[in-house]
This record gives sequence, structure tokens and C-alpha cells, in this order.
Amino acid sequence: ADRCTIWIYDKEKNELWTKVAHGIPKIRIPANTGIVGHVVSTQTEYFTNDAYDDPNFNRDVDKKTGYKTKALLALPLYDNEGNILGAFQAVNKMTDTQEFSQEDIGILKMVAGYSEKSISNAMLNEEIIKTQKEIIFLMAEIGESRSKETGNHVKRVAEISALLAKLYGMNYEEAELIKMASPMHDIGKVAIPDDILKKPGKLTDEEFDHMKNHTTIGYKLLNNSDRVIIKSSAIIAAQHHEKWNGKGYPNRLKGEEIHPYGRISAIADVFDALASPRVYKPAWEYERIKKLFLEEKGQHFDPEMIEIFLDNFDKFVEIIETYKDI
Ligand code: C2E
Ligand code: SIN
Ligand code: SIN
Ligand code: SIN
Ligand code: FE
Ligand code: FE
Repeated sequence: ADRCTIWIYDKEKNELWTKVAHGIPKIRIPANTGIVGHVVSTQTEYFTNDAYDDPNFNRDVDKKTGYKTKALLALPLYDNEGNILGAFQAVNKMTDTQEFSQEDIGILKMVAGYSEKSISNAMLNEEIIKTQKEIIFLMAEIGESRSKETGNHVKRVAEISALLAKLYGMNYEEAELIKMASPMHDIGKVAIPDDILKKPGKLTDEEFDHMKNHTTIGYKLLNNSDRVIIKSSAIIAAQHHEKWNGKGYPNRLKGEEIHPYGRISAIADVFDALASPRVYKPAWEYERIKKLFLEEKGQHFDPEMIEIFLDNFDKFVEIIETYKDI
């Protein structure tokens, strides 16, 4: 055939969209239109050798692409459970007669059997990744929900960390990884008692020592996983309170001993903690925050990252403003 297309049925939108298509960009059509629509709704194969004479044919796609469909063959695709997945479509047979036959249907059915497996596995994989992301985020929100004033804290820290990662020169995938992993940085706070976590005033030294355990607790919770997102979360949970000058906790790591994810999330976490009100402190003015970051450059924070952070300060402020707690 001159062109082949794999259409995927989008149940929620009741549309068909082109997963793989020769010669045309990704398009969507209503699920009840065209020969593919007919094939998907009736779940039977279908072919015509004179498309423009066929009442089921939808000319809109040709109109959009300038292509001339003559012969068209389509058959339904099913997932592993036998649910309709979409359709396989072949257009314009490249033989002298230029006509499809029942025999072509038989051959393509066999081919479709193989593509069905790959497509439904690929979609399952996508589903698993999406589910992973959602569960991580949910867990992080549960962790934060005990201290009421931090509603969007995890969301903001995620966005701030991803932006800083990108500006620092990490590629898109790694920035996305940090975005997914950083919401878990404080998950260890689930094990901190309410009278410490929600104390309106300053913590005593003893209380603060207790609070510091949230880093190691989080690390122990997360580090057993083999999944890369959760492994990254473990690093961030363990290291987000380490300081560049070696005076942080829990391990007093110094400079580049601290993983870049730890150095990035330290900046994101403190920025958000200062810009937002906490039970123990009001929100700070941005100018005051800027001043502190300048003072802490090379002390608390990686000096190179602070330079990038301050050079792009407005972009980070925008994130805070976008996801402000109401
Ligand atoms: P958090 O509220 O999310 O704060 C994260 C980090 O932001 C703090 O880590 C600290 O580095 C920075 N930060 C927050 N507020 C201030 C501030 O007023 N001044 C300065 N210079 N930095 C600030 P840190 O100190 O390791 O604290 C970890 C967590 O311990 C905090 O997370 C919070 O949950 C708790 N915490 C710390 N101090 C107090 C306190 O005085 N009272 C209460 N109730 N909790 C506290
Ligand atoms: C149809 O299936 O009726 C039109 C789809 C196409 O031309 O690609
Ligand atoms: C937090 O959970 O990040 C802060 C807790 C607090 O506001 O005391
Ligand atoms: C604190 O909140 O007392 C810690 C300040 C710091 O980050 O050095
Ligand atoms: Fe923390
Ligand atoms: Fe935090």
C-alpha cells in the first residue's frame, strides 16, 4: 500500500488519533466518522476500491493533506484483553489493478496481530509511568497534609527544582526526573510527632534534633526501591539539608560530596520555606530572601547554583506566585 496508518481509539474524547501515519502529521477525527470510524464501531474489517463513491468515507483527511485516496482497507485492532484499541488502515494498493481484496484482509489481520501486542504493551507502559508519577505525588501530599499551611509546597518545590536543574544545564529528562522525585523530600516528616511539627514557635535544641531525623527516615523509606524516580527521591530526602560548607545535616557532607539533586533541592526548599508562611514564621519579602541567598552563597548553598538562581530570580518568583496557597 502507498500509505499505512495506525489509529488509536481515545475512549474519553470519543476520537481516533494517528499513532503512526505515513505522510501525514498527527491528526484527530471524531470516532464515528470515516471508514476507520465504521471499522472501530462495528469491529469488522472493511475495504473499498473506490473511496469517493463509498458513503462511509470521510473526505476531510484528504482535504487537509491534498492526498487522493482511491482504495482503502481498514481492520480493527484489539488490546490484550480483547477491547477495541483502534484500527489499522492501508491506502491505495501499489499494484497494477490498484485494488484490495479479501486476501489482503487475511494477510493484514496476521500482521495486525503482531502490532496489537506492541501497541498495547507500549500503552500499558505509559500507563504505568503515569501511575508511578501520580502515586509519588499523592504520597508526598499525604506527607505534607499534616502541617496544614504547606498545601502547595511540594508542587512549588518540584517546579523550582526542575527549573533550576534546567538552568544549571541538565537535560530535559533529568530535570523531569528531579521534578518527579523532589516532592518526596520531606516524606520523613510523617514520623515526626505533631507537637514538634506543628509547634507555633521556635523549636528547642532537643526538638530540632528530633526534627532532623526526617532526612534519614525519608531515606530509609525510599532507598529500598530499584525504581530510578524513587531512588532519586531517596537522595533528595537524605541530602536536602546538607550545606555546601559542611555544616548541614545529617551527614555534614561538603561541596560536591553533596549530590547535585541535593544541592538543587536545598535551594528550592529554603526558597519556598522563606517565601511562604509557616506556623513558626511569616512569609519573607523577596528582597530579604535575595539578601539571605547572597549571604549563604558558598556557605549553605552551591555558589554556582546561587548565581544562576539569583540571575533568574524573577522566574522563580513566578512559580511561587503561580502556585500560591490560598
Ligand atoms: P521547613 O519549614 O520546610 O523549612 C525548610 C528550611 O528552610 C529550613 O531547614 C531552613 O533551612 C529554611 N528556613 C525556614 N525558615 C527559616 C527562617 O526563618 N530563617 C532561615 N534562615 N531559614 C529558614 P531547617 O532549619 O533544617 O528546618 C527543617 C524543618 O524543621 C523545617 O522545614 C520545619 O518543618 C522545621 N523547623 C525548623 N525550625 C522550626 C521552628 O522554629 N519551629 C517549628 N515549628 N518548626 C521548625
Ligand atoms: C476514512 O477512514 O474514511 C478516512 C481516513 C483517511 O483518509 O485517512
Ligand atoms: C513543613 O512541613 O514543611 C513545615 C512545618 C511547619 O510549618 O512547621
Ligand atoms: C534555622 O531555621 O534556624 C536554620 C537556619 C539556616 O538555614 O541556617
Ligand atoms: Fe526538610
Ligand atoms: Fe520542605
